[in-house]
Amino acid sequence: MNKNIVWHNAIINRKEREELNGHKAFCLWLTGLSGSGKSTIASELESRLFKLGVHSYILDGDNIRHGLNKDLGFSPEDRTENIRRIGEVAKLFVDAGIVVITAFISPFRADRLSVRNLFDKGRFIEIFVDCSLETCQMRDPKGLYKKAMANIISDFTGLASPYEIPLNAELTLKNDNNSTIQANVSKIIEFLKEKEYLNFTTRQIVRKSALIKKRKITSKQ
Ligand code: ADX
Repeated sequence: MNKNIVWHNAIINRKEREELNGHKAFCLWLTGLSGSGKSTIASELESRLFKLGVHSYILDGDNIRHGLNKDLGFSPEDRTENIRRIGEVAKLFVDAGIVVITAFISPFRADRLSVRNLFDKGRFIEIFVDCSLETCQMRDPKGLYKKAMANIISDFTGLASPYEIPLNAELTLKNDNNSTIQANVSKIIEFLKEKEYLNFTTRQIVRKSALIKKRKITSKQ
């Protein structure tokens, strides 16, 4: 980084944004093989959180690779850069007071650890979507395993490129054919409630309007 670049502090901080939103901001990082169910869990989780009044947003591998990361492929270096950028974007979302849900294979432990280290303690929640390669291959929702087996796609995760399973994930969800998406999403919600990530109080809601009033007064001065 150029040493003539100086950090500019915003007037409003994360804590105030969290108070305004009425909940904490954190990153739910889903990791797992292609076809393990990350995106489906992310969507269902987002709609459950929405109903609870939580401001959330999904960053999804396939979607982000259409835009921000369309210059990246699937070599180990490109995947590392993919995850580095998403880590930084996720950090911005959390700073903005939002619950960010990410759905990336993120196959390398070192890359996931680097992202974890970007966040304050407790703000990064790693969720391993655990589904066997055999099941993912059977599901093959995009026909990509078939293409990889026929050598049409190179570096495919689980086949020609490794997936390093998390050793210290906050949560592991078995997501094979015996589990339902609803049950796994409920496990995430229960985890969040139990660890007090979703502790809404009437006090917070009251403070929300007080906060807006306070801002109006200080901006007039
Ligand atoms: S990551 O490894 O860099 O984290 P990411 O989650 O962004 O991957 O993208 C994975 C998605 O890209 C998969 O769900 C799949 O649809 C598609 N894809 C295309 N080529 C590959 C490949 N070689 N390995 C894995 N996924 C691939």
